[in-house]
Amino acid sequence: MNTLKKMASLTAVMAMALTMTACGGGRSGTDTESGTSGDQSGAAAAGDVSVGIAMPQKTSQNWVEAEDMFKENCAEAKIDCTIQFANGGVAEQQNQISAMIENGVKVLIIGAIDGSQLGTQLAQAKAAGITIIAYDRLLTNTKDIDYYIAYDNFGVGQLQGQALMEGLEAKAGASPWDVELFAGSPDDSNSLKFFDGAMDVLQPKIDDGTLVVKSGQKDFTQVATQGWLPKNAQDRMSALLTSTYQGDEVPDGVLSPNDTLGRAIITAVEQAGKPIPVVTGQDSEDESVTWVVQGKQYATIFKDTRPLVAGAVQLAIQAAEGNTSPTVDNAKLDDSQYESMEGNPVKSFLLTPQIVTAENAAEVYKDDTHRMELVNAAK
Ligand code: BGC
Repeated sequence: MNTLKKMASLTAVMAMALTMTACGGGRSGTDTESGTSGDQSGAAAAGDVSVGIAMPQKTSQNWVEAEDMFKENCAEAKIDCTIQFANGGVAEQQNQISAMIENGVKVLIIGAIDGSQLGTQLAQAKAAGITIIAYDRLLTNTKDIDYYIAYDNFGVGQLQGQALMEGLEAKAGASPWDVELFAGSPDDSNSLKFFDGAMDVLQPKIDDGTLVVKSGQKDFTQVATQGWLPKNAQDRMSALLTSTYQGDEVPDGVLSPNDTLGRAIITAVEQAGKPIPVVTGQDSEDESVTWVVQGKQYATIFKDTRPLVAGAVQLAIQAAEGNTSPTVDNAKLDDSQYESMEGNPVKSFLLTPQIVTAENAAEVYKDDTHRMELVNAAK
């Protein structure tokens, strides 16, 4: 019966294999930091490797964590990194990338706001001989991309779909079950991958009548959440409760693409004075870790930011040193799943996400001191 348990033990083994050096937070900084080291003892060509790291808005905790981790990984490798977040939107990110190119970086690591809107800057970067690495979110509408490093996004979606089914089986009595679907921001190419992965699991259950999407809103465009903004998800959930779930009715489950939106959905249900359905998530954000352990949010996904950042820096160093066949510890190299545009497959280094429920949280987070503290405090 228990796919979830099988997945959990499999992923726990993989987590044990993840022995990337952790670089737990601690340092706080401004959104922009540049550091160069003159130390001659560095493993990499110290000071010769300059990396521009362009990140999106901090729409979830993983982006916040990445900032300090990038700084620490760069310091440890004795390379010169500039990291900037584009809280103002796409135009700001375009300008930041242009400035990094002008400043002579050798490698760009980009977590795009909208990966389809950077074609001009990426063409300039290519012309300047810069290596381009897409981080977490794919760059699209361009051939100017060398590598992609991310967690397996379709796999994340599949785990979310599985978590929803497992949660319903455990908590919602006999089927059929009423569910509602939410997806991420349509300008983030990950959002469709997450949704497609989830629907890979859920669509057959909709087809055989086990699940009923009572609102009838099943298409990505109907269920997407602009800007990954919690307010948008909360408003849509409140509207669904008013339009589709009258009186004591409430959906049995809600597919949420991440924790920020999951908590917004739960808040909407609470404000309507109704019992909380089975809700999924992603990112293992602090508050959601607590809620999962306490049973308020059914599940989240752990995409440990430490190996993702370490892998991106590892890739950048290898590329700057002229290695055209770089490797990343604990990542699978896949060159068929992701295309930056039709006919242009991207060398992708994919890490393995893990599903987290109250049952396995202590096991999944056992190498993450901060999350283990949350788990222990929530019990
Ligand atoms: C990331 C998720 C995150 C979302 C919102 C996605 O691209 O992969 O981890 O929850 O952006 O920030």
